[in-house]
Amino acid sequence: MSTLLQHAQIDWDDQGRPHSRQYDDVYFAVNEGIEETKHVFLGQTRLAERFANLAPHTSLVIGETGFGTGMNFFCAWQLFDQHAHGDARLHFVSVEKYPLGHADMVRAVRLWPELAAYTEPLLEQYVAVHPGFQQFTFADGRVTLTLLIGDVLDQLPQLDAQIDVWFLDGFAPAKNPDMWTPELFAQLARLSHPGTVLGTFTTTGWVRRSLVEAGFAMKKVPGIGKKWEVMSGEYIGAMPNPGAPWYARPAATPGPREALVIGAGLAGSTSAASLARRGWQVTVLERHAVPAQEASGNPQGVLYLKLSAHGTALSQMILSGFGYTRRQLERLQRGRDWDACGVLQLAFDSKEAERQGKLAAAFDRDLLQALERTEAEAIAGVGLPAGGLYYPEGGWVHPPALCQQQLQHPRIRLLAHQEVIELRKVDDLWQAWAGERLLASAPVVVLAAAADVRRFAPCAQLPLKRIRGQITRLPSTDGSRALRTVVCAEGYVAPPRGDEHTLGASFDFHSEDLTPTVAEHQGNLALLEEISTDLAQRLGVAELDPGQLQGRAAFRCTSPDYLPIVGPLADDQAFAEAYAVLGRDARQVPDVPCPWLGGLYVNSGHGSRGLITAPLSGELVAAWVCGEPLPLPRAVAEACHPNRFGLRKMIRGK
Ligand SMILES: Cc1cc2nc3c(=O)[nH]c(=O)nc-3n(C[C@H](O)[C@H](O)[C@H](O)COP(=O)(O)OP(=O)(O)OC[C@H]3O[C@@H](n4cnc5c(N)ncnc54)[C@H](O)[C@@H]3O)c2cc1C
Ligand SMILES: C[S@@+](CC[C@H](N)C(=O)[O-])C[C@H]1O[C@@H](n2cnc3c(N)ncnc32)[C@H](O)[C@@H]1O
Repeated sequence: MSTLLQHAQIDWDDQGRPHSRQYDDVYFAVNEGIEETKHVFLGQTRLAERFANLAPHTSLVIGETGFGTGMNFFCAWQLFDQHAHGDARLHFVSVEKYPLGHADMVRAVRLWPELAAYTEPLLEQYVAVHPGFQQFTFADGRVTLTLLIGDVLDQLPQLDAQIDVWFLDGFAPAKNPDMWTPELFAQLARLSHPGTVLGTFTTTGWVRRSLVEAGFAMKKVPGIGKKWEVMSGEYIGAMPNPGAPWYARPAATPGPREALVIGAGLAGSTSAASLARRGWQVTVLERHAVPAQEASGNPQGVLYLKLSAHGTALSQMILSGFGYTRRQLERLQRGRDWDACGVLQLAFDSKEAERQGKLAAAFDRDLLQALERTEAEAIAGVGLPAGGLYYPEGGWVHPPALCQQQLQHPRIRLLAHQEVIELRKVDDLWQAWAGERLLASAPVVVLAAAADVRRFAPCAQLPLKRIRGQITRLPSTDGSRALRTVVCAEGYVAPPRGDEHTLGASFDFHSEDLTPTVAEHQGNLALLEEISTDLAQRLGVAELDPGQLQGRAAFRCTSPDYLPIVGPLADDQAFAEAYAVLGRDARQVPDVPCPWLGGLYVNSGHGSRGLITAPLSGELVAAWVCGEPLPLPRAVAEACHPNRFGLRKMIRGK
């Protein structure tokens, strides 16, 4: 599977139509394009009727092969707007091997000014579109787009979803034989349920026969324009195998759409937002007076991508999470709440230089670029000891601003000064208690209290570690304001927010005390010297009295495999009993349902990169709760699943 992104190579012909150099075919006909989409995809799948029939709080899931310019998506969204109930939702999942670059996307969609209400929001969020799953949120969450960037034959097998309607697009089978394969048809069937419908422009005989073999009843119907006939189909095959029970979806929680979220840091506020956008009434319980007072309370955090050239689960999570966070940030005020000033990771020793070399070969230049020292200095605006990897779309964020923005939803109620001590389940409701005081109750609870989730019995066994970290606030000077990008070595320093730079951060695996220490300020200043002696001089570090430095300390909360812990929770004891056989034979998949603690979810373990992983994890929690397509590959969601530890323990006998 490639991590290297290739954009669409487009030539614009004399009629203004985009023509694919990769496939030697046009994306759409300028005049008939929209009519063709309406006939082939919307008409054949009776989409208007399906939208009109959606009950409040239900969603329709459309799957598409070939996002291209997004025309099918925009037209479907417009139809949804016209026909669906205000509380219904649309989830559009589309695969694209060669996404359009931003400039081509602008040029393509501006061909349809009548669709501007749909195309402009996409353009605003069309940033950080990199390989893998890329989630977008539109219309205050009524519409979700999950773009799977990569070859359809690599991407669809990773999708965990049930598709209601397929738009089988992609260039013509004769121009694109690699896509129209039995593997593709098998995936369409795997992701369908009886009643799933399909529309496609092609009537090629072997495509029709292959779809029939895969379980679709197909028929030819009259076409439009130059196409005499097109095809529609309905899935009449078997339901797919749901997979291992410990990762299968828990049943939907009965009762009102009400949820409690415990903790108002990045994980809690983004989980609350993801649920509220899906129509849930959310009560957030936070022990402090205001949100973001613990790990999420630093003045500046860095969008720092620690990637692997091998496409590990963590690396995939980082790329998807980075994209999602970046798109959320577009709604915040640049300069005050965040800045896309880029992030430079210095090649500070030979090992790091070697690691960076591999990454530069594995990823595209829109994501990261290897720079020589002089190039790096020109971008950073200060003298540097080495070149490094530059992430042009990275930057810094004021995490409390992101938390506040996420919590500003009319369906979210924040209860401050409320420390939850205990959870109890009574009938179908989870109750949050502080001693003898019942604070709130709801059928669904998301535990987002960082390492303190272990206080609650269902999370007591989660292997979470707290690592103290301290940042130093440095007043900017005329000279230091030349710094134009975040620069990282073992530590990091950001361009000023207001008139202060944030310099971070120490790691202490033992201390439980959060009082800032002089020693750690000194340690941070040493990290700054490694980053840039020039910048240290500009900041007048030699004259600073470390005893007078300002800063703050908090705990990171880390899991042993550095992946966050996100998903539904099961009863430990019952889990161990249900799957005890795995201790003897790890290859078995016992047909025993997982003993879920119905309605209980966790979102924690974001370590040193919560800005990148927590917002997408909010979407992941919401997808678990609402039974929606997962915003991450199935294997990545499994790698983040709370059950992974219980499972490993059983298999290794520890
Ligand atoms: C020094 C330092 C530097 C960092 N730098 C970066 C960086 O540059 N980039 C990056 O991406 N990440 C960085 N991180 C990591 C990032 O800050 C965290 O991953 C993220 O903030 C975790 O968010 P959270 O919501 O899980 O935890 P928290 O922000 O700690 O939120 C947990 C919340 O739960 C509340 N709570 C806990 N128990 C209860 C209870 N029983 N009842 C009610 N409320 C409760 C707490 O008060 C708190 O508000 C840094 C962390 C530290 C400490
Ligand atoms: C005709 S265009 C799609 C038009 C699009 N649905 C629209 O509304 O504009 C076909 C798209 O399929 C994509 N594609 C072709 N083969 C693919 C594959 N194997 N995997 C993923 N995408 C593919 C192409 O890159 C192209 O963007």
